[in-house]
Amino acid sequence: MARNKYDIDEALETPFNIANFKRCKIYLKHSIKLLIIGAILSLLSTVFALCGPYFVKIVIDNIEKQQAAGTQEISGIFIIGALYLLCILLSEACSYFRTIVTSKAGQQIIHEIRVDIFSHVQMLSFNYFDSRPRGKILVRVVHYVNNVADFLSNGLINIVVQFLTIFIIIFFMFSLDVKLSLVVLSGLPIFIIYMVLIRGRQRRAWTDYSAKNSNVTAYVSESINGMQITQAFNREKINQGIYDRLLGQMRKAYLKAATINNSIPFIIENLSSFVQAFLYVAAIAFFVGNNYTAGTIVAMASYSSRFWSPIQSIGDIYNQLINTGSYLERIFDTIDEKIEIEDVPGAYDLPAISGEVEYKNVTFAYEPGHNVLENLSFKATPGQSIALVGPTGAGKSTIVNILCRFYDIQEGEIRIDGHNIHDVTLKSLRSKMGIMLQDSFIFSGTIKDNIRYGKLDATDDEIIEAAKTVCAHDFIMQLEDGYDTVVNEKGSMLSQGQRQLICFARTVISNPAILILDEATSSIDTETEQYVQQGIEKMMRGRTSFIIAHRLSTIINCDTIMYIDQKGIMETGTHEELLRKGGYYHDLYTSQLMETEPAQQNN
Ligand SMILES: Nc1ncnc2c1ncn2[C@@H]1O[C@H](COP(=O)(O)OP(=O)(O)OP(=O)(O)O)[C@@H](O)[C@H]1O
Ligand SMILES: [Mg+2]
Repeated sequence: MARNKYDIDEALETPFNIANFKRCKIYLKHSIKLLIIGAILSLLSTVFALCGPYFVKIVIDNIEKQQAAGTQEISGIFIIGALYLLCILLSEACSYFRTIVTSKAGQQIIHEIRVDIFSHVQMLSFNYFDSRPRGKILVRVVHYVNNVADFLSNGLINIVVQFLTIFIIIFFMFSLDVKLSLVVLSGLPIFIIYMVLIRGRQRRAWTDYSAKNSNVTAYVSESINGMQITQAFNREKINQGIYDRLLGQMRKAYLKAATINNSIPFIIENLSSFVQAFLYVAAIAFFVGNNYTAGTIVAMASYSSRFWSPIQSIGDIYNQLINTGSYLERIFDTIDEKIEIEDVPGAYDLPAISGEVEYKNVTFAYEPGHNVLENLSFKATPGQSIALVGPTGAGKSTIVNILCRFYDIQEGEIRIDGHNIHDVTLKSLRSKMGIMLQDSFIFSGTIKDNIRYGKLDATDDEIIEAAKTVCAHDFIMQLEDGYDTVVNEKGSMLSQGQRQLICFARTVISNPAILILDEATSSIDTETEQYVQQGIEKMMRGRTSFIIAHRLSTIINCDTIMYIDQKGIMETGTHEELLRKGGYYHDLYTSQLMETEPAQQNN
């Protein structure tokens, strides 16, 4: 089966870069208090828990002593027992509150990173989105950020706490007995050697797993977006196959990583048991002269078994640290992604305009070496309506995309009222334009929200007025909740034509000086179109308008029609002029006429 782009992993295996961790300081700033409280609670919880074996020792030794002396005084033992219980309760309580505190810190950190990454992604140019699967962007914003935040809120505290725990245990052990403590510590070098040996493989295995995991997420995201097409083309089986394969790769990667990981507890368990056995042997057989009490031996054994738990945690955190390093690399990569299209230094706001648009020798390519437009020049006077027609892929949408600076041109210049669009602020430039792009996107929310998308302060009356202008009012009123009807992302419950009408209303509501309609009426039925046409004409009055349409009936009244092909303008003139000329436009028009006439005759 052919590989697709989801098989290509993100290059996650980057050298460990401490600079990325240092950079996280900005995200920890607001949570630092919570993190410190969390660390203190963790530490208290550990200290309380570690008091346990000490109390056990006291009780056992006490009982032993009493047995030897033939006395039976149990009130002291009760007190110690109560203290032990109190310690356990306090330990659990601290641990409980620590979880609450660190979760809160974690959520704060997630929030800050997400806001940062999202606000940056919003400024990235169309080029960025053209060149990668959206799902992979999603993975970074959601999955990677979650992992990083978990490390920053929990992992960091844990590292400190686990190291301190080890030191506290060592302190307790040494205060009981030095020799026996050294016996317990004897297992440590073996464990360290093992960890050093598997470290590289372990890191590779986990980074491989997260790459495969992100492939799966990206594929699911795309599949859900394209589900209708999948079903229409009976691609379910093939897609299932692709998904299966991606899942298989992920499972394999996971099992490999998990196998390596699971070997660590295995080693620890065995070492711990071995050391404990050795401890008893040493205490009873080797260090006979020391005359250890039963309490001391039991307490030492207990500390010995607890000693390995923080060591294992440190191993886990080390893993997490390595993964976080690669996630951070990707996150900062996205945050640092150069904003290709931004205000130049010294950019000024485009003042109120009359709407003169001039293209001067404009050359543009999406990819270097493949010019889509070459040496394009034309001038639109204020209020003029210009229709762009021509074969598919000729560059009509491109001409308006570069006017909005969705892409920057390579040569030449575009001027609006004499201002080079490259020198003015993007915000002021786009605020002068009403843009209706070729694919009419509906956001989740109400119809009303969708119409006021670009003009948040629009009143209900303005919204209704805009809808009426584009003949959307009637169908909206027929919906269950009228303007408050909730639609899904992409407007799945609306027809394509209805979606176009809503986008159309969204475009007209901001009262732009320049109007750009890219196939605005392509999915609207001919009857509605006649009404919409009136609305469009009303809208176009006094505005410079660029209308792109395959259906020529919608543009015959435009002041100028430009036939676009072969990287430039092939013909330009009014409908009548171009018909008289008998060139490309004439051919296009007559061929459409022939297509529609038989249909009309049939009606
Ligand atoms: N994001 C992009 N990256 C690379 N090439 C692109 C991109 N968008 C368009 N193109 C190419 O640029 C050329 C012009 O595309 P454009 O979308 O402007 O055509 P169009 O005239 O609007 O076509 P249609 O009538 O089908 O909408 C096409 O050959 C297309 O393959
Ligand atoms: Mg187009």
